[in-house]
Amino acid sequence: MSLGYVIGESKPTFVTALTSRPLSVGEYIIMDTDDGKILGLVEKSKVSSAAFTDVKNFDEARESIEIAEINKRDKTFTANIGILGFLENLQKGQSIIPAIPPIPGTEILQPTKEELKGIFSSAEPGWVKIGNLLRNKTIDVKVNLDKIVSRHLGILAMTGMGKSNLVSLVTKQIGNLKGTVIIFDYHNDYTTLNIPRINVIDAKINPRLLDADQLSEVLEIRDGANVQQRVLRMAFTKNVKESKEFWKKLETEVDFIVNSEDKKLKEIRTSAYRIQDIIEEAQRRFEDILDPDMGDPISFIKEGRTNVLNISELSEKQANVAVAFYLQQILKDRKDASIARHGRSKREITYRFNSPIFVIIEEAHVFIPKDHDTSAKYWTAKIAREGRKFGLGLGIVSQRPRSVDLNVLSQMGSFAIMKIIQEDDQRQIASATESTSRELISQLTSLNVGDAILIGQWTNLPSLVHVDEVKEKIMGADQSAVSAWTNADKMAEVAIESTQGLVQKDLLLD
Ligand SMILES: Nc1ncnc2c1ncn2[C@@H]1O[C@H](COP(=O)(O)OP(=O)(O)O)[C@@H](O)[C@H]1O
Ligand SMILES: [Mg+2]
Repeated sequence: MSLGYVIGESKPTFVTALTSRPLSVGEYIIMDTDDGKILGLVEKSKVSSAAFTDVKNFDEARESIEIAEINKRDKTFTANIGILGFLENLQKGQSIIPAIPPIPGTEILQPTKEELKGIFSSAEPGWVKIGNLLRNKTIDVKVNLDKIVSRHLGILAMTGMGKSNLVSLVTKQIGNLKGTVIIFDYHNDYTTLNIPRINVIDAKINPRLLDADQLSEVLEIRDGANVQQRVLRMAFTKNVKESKEFWKKLETEVDFIVNSEDKKLKEIRTSAYRIQDIIEEAQRRFEDILDPDMGDPISFIKEGRTNVLNISELSEKQANVAVAFYLQQILKDRKDASIARHGRSKREITYRFNSPIFVIIEEAHVFIPKDHDTSAKYWTAKIAREGRKFGLGLGIVSQRPRSVDLNVLSQMGSFAIMKIIQEDDQRQIASATESTSRELISQLTSLNVGDAILIGQWTNLPSLVHVDEVKEKIMGADQSAVSAWTNADKMAEVAIESTQGLVQKDLLLD
């Protein structure tokens, strides 16, 4: 179906067209050139009316309505179209931009369903459906799961725009393939996810497995308290780590410093007293979180399952230590698996996981902050760089992209970006992604819940999609206070009525 014609000055990557109907931003069109069919994406769309061009007052405006209606040529629909490449190549996943710009007069066509399906609904294995094209709704959009495990994924959007829904969907799809997913669940969003093979784990920390700095963080010793940290380092000996009675042994070591008459140790006695208090307090306060007898935390993670690590009970610092610990261990395990498989080592290597793992970090701005270093950030950055060699993929989720470390963010090979209004956030996303998608990024403010821009290696082409809603996700929906109040009110009335009934019955009985 003919939609219009290329006009004005064309470039190899960009044309302007006049069309018979207004085109939607994000809509795909075909340009039929001598060298082959070219696929374009509508980046801007304008409508103007000749009758309204020089209108100066209310009455003129009202009269113009009639003139505009009668005159068939009144409306001008202009579209700015970005050229994505030759259709035939795009269907094979390659973008080849024409050397010669489309000549003005080239016809703009509506793509057929088959043409678009060839690009967006790849039938190759490893591609799974996550939604439909937003402007060509009958076309399924599939993504390449291999690419997010090998080259990572960023999911960025304001709160309530559908990040966790997409995480659930991707997770569900990986689950269908019996893949292993680990979600660090900071807000207890996923523990009720109703999908097969889910494994919910209350994340705990085994203090024996930490180093002194990490222990200092989970005990919440102040950042600047250098002497206290020194005391802890001295007391946290190999013996303590290996002792059956972890806390008791640690306390004994601190007692030794407190009671020592050594001149050097006497100088730090006050801090040692403080550490005594901290350790005592921690055993009470963090009873459910710090467990020296839990064994290896990694042993709770199951291969071929969706592992939801509930870290919602942990403080920010503790969560950071826990995330770092898990990331470090999982990376090590994947490395060992790869070394063992390639037979590069003479020693016997044991490892837990035989197949690739996809790790999802929610609230990434907390764990991978832009402005300071954390141990979780160190390990995330390492996995972002090295993970692909060992089959360890990262999914980074945040509602504050501006506060996420740009170095890590730019290592994400694919992105799903939903509605974002803040300019700082948009700028950060533009820096982290390739320049070709800038135009799409300018659309971010106008998206609705569940609409997403997909860019990067998991799609053949940047695209605007509506993501499928995951019905199995029970939590996370906005709570309606008004309906809860109404229900509470109704319940109260029912309660009153039933007691009245009882009273009357009692009276009758008497
Ligand atoms: N693709 C979608 N289609 C329809 N509704 C959606 C979609 N994604 C999310 N929602 C709705 O929006 C709400 C918030 O989504 P959620 O994924 O929790 O957002 P976020 O994690 O970005 O805060 C959900 O309760 C869900 O009902
Ligand atoms: Mg969420």
